[in-house]
Amino acid sequence: MSDVDFLLQADPQFRADILEGLRGPRRAIPARWLYDERGSELFDEITRLAEYYPTRTETMLLEQCRGELAKQINPGAAVIEFGAGSATKTPLLLEAIAPSAYVPIDISGDYLRSSADILQSRFPSLDVIPIEADFTQAMTLPATLGDAERLGFFPGSTIGNFVPRSSVNLLRHMRETLEEGAKLLIGFDRIKSTDVLIPAYDDAAGVTAAFNLNLLHRINRELDGNIAVDAFVHDVRWNDMQSRIEMHLRCTRNVIFVVAGEEFAMRDGESIHTENSHKYDLRGLRLLLRSGCWTPIADYSDPKDWFTLVLAEAAPIYTAP
Ligand code: AVJ
Repeated sequence: MSDVDFLLQADPQFRADILEGLRGPRRAIPARWLYDERGSELFDEITRLAEYYPTRTETMLLEQCRGELAKQINPGAAVIEFGAGSATKTPLLLEAIAPSAYVPIDISGDYLRSSADILQSRFPSLDVIPIEADFTQAMTLPATLGDAERLGFFPGSTIGNFVPRSSVNLLRHMRETLEEGAKLLIGFDRIKSTDVLIPAYDDAAGVTAAFNLNLLHRINRELDGNIAVDAFVHDVRWNDMQSRIEMHLRCTRNVIFVVAGEEFAMRDGESIHTENSHKYDLRGLRLLLRSGCWTPIADYSDPKDWFTLVLAEAAPIYTAP
């Protein structure tokens, strides 16, 4: 296979994002490219780390607010999950509210179908309708949902990956997809001490470091690259002005490398920005929801205020007062 054939096989969007992201002067790559097969496995491992509190805190909150949710959402609703279902969280929600249909939306078709199959076998009478699509865009839901009440589900503080402008767009697109009368159950990670935040993204076992560095291995493999991965280290920073954890890949010596036929040079100390994880306070997350056309109606937090689940309803479209 020639070099040209090899590069034609790569995802054109991946190729474009990586080349553009490596050119600088501020190097940054969209976080979604961290999640190839190996990256998703490593993320799964992250969710089980002692230092990574979000997954277990949100799971506990879901267990605790089951009764409240059952009061707010009538049986027979349609649950639309933005992202493929999590094996632990989604069943908790489905058991709590007994919906008639479950619609997971994810860009990764293989992952989506395998997680949908697992849920279908656990809930045989549930109508499981996976949709392979980019959940950041508005879409038309399957007509078979009829006029079932709609509940959007967006757990994991995945909203934190998006900068404010994109998170507002995303929330508005969800509002457009789910329509008038819908509700949304969404998880937000809260602002807390950096003594807790930094280790959550820089664990002692080095799993998050491996997750971040995997991006360079992926680039080398899929885009015929020769990046010296051992010249890079996982670098985690708290950006207080923008209220977010940032992951970077920092270069520890001057390097020259080639990716997809293009040459790049990086100096010792320069870095590639690979992920943001925004953190919110209660007022801030409520304002974000309202900016995205969702009115908060209830929220559930753990005793330490480390994580918050919010139930919101689609805001009516009006401009007054
Ligand atoms: C999947 C975006 C929620 O930001 O906590 C975890 C991703 N990256 N450790 C997060 C992540 C490194 C995670 N989200």
